[in-house]
Amino acid sequence: MSQTEVGATAAPATVRTPLLELKNLEVTYNQVVLAVRGVSMEVQEGTVCALLGANGAGKTTILRAISSVLTSQDGEVTDGTICLDGDPITDLAADKIVRRGICHVPEGRQVFRDLTVEENLRAAAFTLTDRRKVESRLEMVQEYFPKLTTLWKGKAGYLSGGEQQMLALGRGLMLDPRLLILDEPSLGLAPVMVDEITRIVTEVSRQERVTVLLVEQNAQIALDLSDYCYVLENGRIVLDGRSSEIAENQDIKEFYLGASEGSSTNYAAIKHYRRRKRWMS
Ligand SMILES: Nc1ncnc2c1ncn2[C@@H]1O[C@H](COP(=O)(O)OP(=O)(O)OP(=O)(O)O)[C@@H](O)[C@H]1O
Ligand SMILES: [Mg+2]
Repeated sequence: MSQTEVGATAAPATVRTPLLELKNLEVTYNQVVLAVRGVSMEVQEGTVCALLGANGAGKTTILRAISSVLTSQDGEVTDGTICLDGDPITDLAADKIVRRGICHVPEGRQVFRDLTVEENLRAAAFTLTDRRKVESRLEMVQEYFPKLTTLWKGKAGYLSGGEQQMLALGRGLMLDPRLLILDEPSLGLAPVMVDEITRIVTEVSRQERVTVLLVEQNAQIALDLSDYCYVLENGRIVLDGRSSEIAENQDIKEFYLGASEGSSTNYAAIKHYRRRKRWMS
């Protein structure tokens, strides 16, 4: 048998099970509002995956479904499955999801305002029973965010927006997550702080080997930071691919990255976009 024939009959390369997989996910609020409509996504271990979309597209809803916090919002998964390492986790309670290594840093930098920085971080480590591990995670957070060390005994409510975002990220890291889910970490921050946060997210994902699922409205940040990107519109994925390729997509350039290609008015640009967006349902 020739080399070619051997190659032709060889088994295909093994397909890696994604760390996180959403299959045909549907989420409904108040039993009527269909916010997520048949979304399928894969997040490979060790990568940064971005979910990009405009206001109301359903980004936060997808994250809430993954971390199982929809009930408090009167929402529920009405179809589809969420798998971690191939195991369905759709029906697990929020605390079990955390114990499985998924850590969700919600939008709006939710920290305990009346607790100090240190107390916030210690409280976040609620699943860790090994005290030495808690101390070593605290040290790690201080290394990533030296600024927090100077504010260690100060109340979180008095921190600036950027400092609170650092604390929220630090809280996420305390749990030694396998998957860190970040909901708009750049929202409302000054450019210099956005740069700082994105630098740290990149370092964390590389050095701590944490897989990251990042939700962003800011396409530049999402595409710069991620390896793979999904674009969500009206609860549906309308485009996905390697972030470097998505960044070259003309529609993305015009409508998410703010570049214009010969159109002098917004109105003309929108018509052009509508003609071109064959990838939308
Ligand atoms: N608790 C809720 N009850 C009812 N509808 C909701 C609730 N939360 C979100 N929605 C609706 O679901 C849709 C998706 O909202 P979601 O917050 O997921 O969007 P998003 O992409 O995160 O938007 P943004 O960029 O503004 O944060 C919207 O139409 C929103 O009005
Ligand atoms: Mg949101």
